[in-house]
Amino acid sequence: ALPYDLAGQRILVSAGGTREPLDPVRYLGNHSSGKQGYALARAAAQRGAQVTLVAGATSDPGEPAAVDIVHIESARELEHEMSRRAREADVVIMAAAVADFRPVDVAGSKIKKGDDGPAPIRLDTNPDILAGLVRARGAGDIARDTVIVGFAAETGDADGGVLDHGRAKLRRKGCDLLVVNAVGDGKAFGTEDNAGWILTVDGNETALPFGSKTLMASRILDEVAVIVPHS
Ligand code: PMT
Repeated sequence: ALPYDLAGQRILVSAGGTREPLDPVRYLGNHSSGKQGYALARAAAQRGAQVTLVAGATSDPGEPAAVDIVHIESARELEHEMSRRAREADVVIMAAAVADFRPVDVAGSKIKKGDDGPAPIRLDTNPDILAGLVRARGAGDIARDTVIVGFAAETGDADGGVLDHGRAKLRRKGCDLLVVNAVGDGKAFGTEDNAGWILTVDGNETALPFGSKTLMASRILDEVAVIVPHS
């Protein structure tokens, strides 16, 4: 039987990829399927949490039962929803793959081929939503005991610096837990399975062996349940 250890907790999860529009028919995007974030939302609801899922572009993630879903497209829309809703959350999990950049100009009509070949695409930096949530918590705009969980998708293996990158990212982003995915070989973006590590601010590192995203979700929520304040 599943533990009912998240009963009453309000958990906000982001999932899927952002799409940054270029014109009415084109966008910059990524290969996130939303499966990992949806698996987290589903598992948290099964453990008694009240779950809101803010979902970007997904492919076939399955409908989670008993979860409120809000759909967004771009990073800025995701930021708007997360920063507002984080004020009502006990736990925030950023499993979405957020585009770091967006086109400066969004054409009002479909961009034509033109006689001079393709025009260059100029990019602006998107807000770092996770870092913004940590800042808002520090400033007291969201409750100081809100648990914030980040993800990191890194290429390479443990010896190839994935963990070092993860440790540096945990320090830089200032969240409580960082789930590090090793990308590639049937893991992370768009796949059924995943593998990696969970890093905590106090230096605990737990390996997450290769397995389904559902299994990975339950291991992540085990760690969340340990640190979330219980009323
Ligand atoms: O959706 P799936 O196909 O199931 O795949 C799952 C996943 C691989 C997308 C997911 O497990 C994952 O790792 N998500 C984060 C991937 C990522 O974009 O990592 P990052 O290193 O760019 O970002 C680090 C963290 O900062 C993430 O929590 C991300 O949500 C957040 N971020 C990143 C950029 C940005 N502008 N704002 C953010 O909040």
